[in-house]
Amino acid sequence: MFPFKYYAPTKVLFGRDTELKVAEMIRLFGGTKVLIHYGGGSVIRSGLMKRVTDTLDAAGIAYISLGGAVPNPRLSLVYEGIELCKREGIDFLLAVGGGSAIDSAKAIGYGVYNGGDVWDFYDGKRKAAGCLPLGVILTLSATGSEMSDSSVITKEEGLIKRGYSSDYGRAKFALLNPELTMTLPDYQTACGCADIMMHTMERYFTGGATLQLTDAIAEALLRTVMTNAEILVKDPKSYDARAEVMWAGSLSHNGLTGFGSDGGDWMTHKLEHELGGLYDVAHGAGLTAIWGSWARYVYRDCLPRFRRFAVNVMGVEAVGTDEEIALKGIEAMEAFYRRIHMPTNLRELGVNPTEDELKEMARKCAIGVGGAKGSARLLREADMLAIYRASM
Ligand code: NZQ
Ligand code: ZN
Repeated sequence: MFPFKYYAPTKVLFGRDTELKVAEMIRLFGGTKVLIHYGGGSVIRSGLMKRVTDTLDAAGIAYISLGGAVPNPRLSLVYEGIELCKREGIDFLLAVGGGSAIDSAKAIGYGVYNGGDVWDFYDGKRKAAGCLPLGVILTLSATGSEMSDSSVITKEEGLIKRGYSSDYGRAKFALLNPELTMTLPDYQTACGCADIMMHTMERYFTGGATLQLTDAIAEALLRTVMTNAEILVKDPKSYDARAEVMWAGSLSHNGLTGFGSDGGDWMTHKLEHELGGLYDVAHGAGLTAIWGSWARYVYRDCLPRFRRFAVNVMGVEAVGTDEEIALKGIEAMEAFYRRIHMPTNLRELGVNPTEDELKEMARKCAIGVGGAKGSARLLREADMLAIYRASM
């Protein structure tokens, strides 16, 4: 087991109507003037925003709002939010929505607290010394941003999508009501399940460490999400299935499923971020479109883990060579993706990059990871290009 840091400071209230605790939570964490940050309007159409503002009004908490965080949230809105917060004397951020609204709020928080150009953090040029306090009302179980230390922003100029991770960006509280996810389109529900699983799989496929407890938690989480993702395909209003998925989403990206590993692989995510930046695809769908090609490219270098995954997670019978078992596990995962209507290659994802575009993505990806990355197998630009090609 590698040494690790355990820090999951977010206060979680889970269950029906927890969004009505929002004023109490903001008070608890010292907020007096709030920026409510949200996406394209689903939270207004669902009536959630009115419930939130009614609660703040009743508690006498001042607020303003800024919508418009799009999937793959943009830097220009972050800049706008920073200026707005400074002008209005905002001391607390409330993100209401999915990962995009949360990540955009985190970026606004870094910008207000630290001054200078907030993109510097995403560009790896400096580190934040703090962030405005942030609370979350989650409407989409997917990214785990409600408990994670990361934020992912897309800079329009050059279509560069980059993440920044810092404990300062962790939410003070997260209000998790599974019912709020019932208005999601089925596609977004499935994308979310895929993303949740990938946050654990990125940590699971590692070249280092034997991890009994962490592996058992990771495998249970993956099986739980698979079972409930399939229930939600048939019964999208199942509260229990949405509840299982929602809690899995938060735990899958707060570190729990990777404690003691070498940090994990993360190359499927890095390869997807280039797709998201260039083609604006839904993050979860981009991940499933890449994963099979990545897995086939690296599995021989990480055979014990792929074998274990096949048997313990995908239920493959342990018969045959390790390589055969590992490959069956990869096939079983792709079959699962198809059952929840997720793509398993770029064509199914609906994008058709030219050879030049594939090269450009591989180039940008390699720059983004500082030359090489991956724990299952260390990948360089030529490997990244080979995986993109194989995923066509
Ligand atoms: O914008 P609105 O109108 O709210 O609609 C959204 C959006 O169109 C809609 N939606 C969300 N909740 C809804 C709903 N529609 C109906 N009912 C609801 N209850 O769903 C669409 C997608 O929302 P978005 O927030 O973009 O999705 P997600 O939560 O998957 O976030 C994706 C972003 O997070 C990043 C991704 O790269 C992507 O940019 N990630 C962030 C991470 C983190 N901060 O830790 C880790 C992840 O690996 C990921 O990279
Ligand atoms: Zn993700």
